[in-house]
Amino acid sequence: MGLIMILSSSIFMLQVAIATERPIIGILCDEIDNNPSRSFISASYVKAVEASGARVVPIFLSRNYDYYKRMVDSVNGILLPGGKALESTVGGYFDAARHIFNYTRQLHEKGAHFPLLGICLGMQALAEFSTEDYDNSNSTLERCSGVNGRMLPLKMTQSFRNSSLYGNITPQIYDILTKQNVTANYHRYCIRPDKNLTLPWHILSLNVDRERKQFISSMELPGPIAGIQFHPEKNAWEWNQEHAAFEDALLASRHFYDWLVIEARKNNHTFDDIQNEDDSLIYNYDAIYLGREQIYRFESTSTSQRLIPGQLLAIISCLLPLIVINNKYSTIR
Ligand SMILES: *[C@@H]1O[C@H](CO)[C@@H](O)[C@H](O)[C@H]1NC(C)=O
Ligand SMILES: *[C@@H]1O[C@H](CO)[C@@H](O)[C@H](O)[C@H]1NC(C)=O
Ligand SMILES: *[C@@H]1O[C@H](CO)[C@@H](O)[C@H](O)[C@H]1NC(C)=O
Ligand SMILES: *[C@@H]1O[C@H](CO)[C@@H](O)[C@H](O)[C@H]1NC(C)=O
Ligand SMILES: *[C@@H]1O[C@H](CO)[C@@H](O)[C@H](O)[C@H]1NC(C)=O
Ligand SMILES: *[C@@H]1O[C@H](CO)[C@@H](O)[C@H](O)[C@H]1NC(C)=O
Repeated sequence: MGLIMILSSSIFMLQVAIATERPIIGILCDEIDNNPSRSFISASYVKAVEASGARVVPIFLSRNYDYYKRMVDSVNGILLPGGKALESTVGGYFDAARHIFNYTRQLHEKGAHFPLLGICLGMQALAEFSTEDYDNSNSTLERCSGVNGRMLPLKMTQSFRNSSLYGNITPQIYDILTKQNVTANYHRYCIRPDKNLTLPWHILSLNVDRERKQFISSMELPGPIAGIQFHPEKNAWEWNQEHAAFEDALLASRHFYDWLVIEARKNNHTFDDIQNEDDSLIYNYDAIYLGREQIYRFESTSTSQRLIPGQLLAIISCLLPLIVINNKYSTIR
């Protein structure tokens, strides 16, 4: 009797927990040359998500709030990738990410489960949106020296064990992440742990820069929303720079994309019809080979963007070796 009760209740929990076995992850595009009518996604993010068992839909720039709401309502989780963007670009990466964050938080407040993962620039954007003086990015981000191109072991904080991101980590992955130089850091700005973010982020891990000053390397908000300062998609999928690509590094790098897709399976969003789903998938676009790595490039047919001159021009960069040598674009329909 007791056994049957336990079995049936765990089956029930499984049914509640898993909402889809066919998850779709939206990946936000990044602007090229601060012109959001030309955008791209590094194929490494797409491959990493696909390797964890989800399909990918690109989320374009320069759209209105309704578009981003519709995308959140259609996909099971969103990845805000690293890259290089100006906060001041109207209709650019930051504007799009802010809409996504805003609507996602509204869903979380209503109890929905929708994972959002910000990587490098994506994490920095999430931190900025969590600061009262949002318009002054200096107040959120600081220059961080000597970590561009460095592989670092994570220093976990007390909060990591109870976190969504690391709560189910295996001892083996924990050991690799904390003892070996596997996390690929490519950034010149960072968030210091004493920065008082307005929203209740939990700091999960820290690292130090060349001046021995600490910066946040992973953090999370309930929802779940996670930010990581390093690039786990680079280990296996980018060959333009030298990242830790030995077996343990590859094993550990999977953890973050697996987390995103496992959490996405608990979300029940769907596209309104199957044709719309098929037409939205990244499979409709060709990746372009740039030499040791691939990207997807998109050109919008409507180009109504402009830069506001004189606005804060802090370039927030998670450096990419982006060699823009190819003029081929996919046209966004
Ligand atoms: C979303 O944006 C609206 C309008 O700017 C604001 O009133 C609201 O508080 C934001 N919601 C969240 C959850 O950030
Ligand atoms: C940001 O900081 C730099 C130096 O660290 C300073 O020159 C610049 O004026 C600051 N910008 C703002 C908007 O505070
Ligand atoms: C961590 O523990 C606290 C209190 O024990 C709980 O309220 C919170 O939801 C937990 N967080 C996660 C991500 O499980
Ligand atoms: C990690 O890198 C540091 C600095 O380069 C080095 O001193 C250390 O031995 C490396 N650790 C491992 C486990 O390779
Ligand atoms: C954060 O808040 C604490 C306590 O209010 C304060 O002591 C500290 O100076 C603040 N840190 C920053 C960077 O403003
Ligand atoms: C998804 O789950 C929410 C509750 O979390 C429910 O209100 C909604 O109707 C569900 N949507 C679908 C399409 O099943």
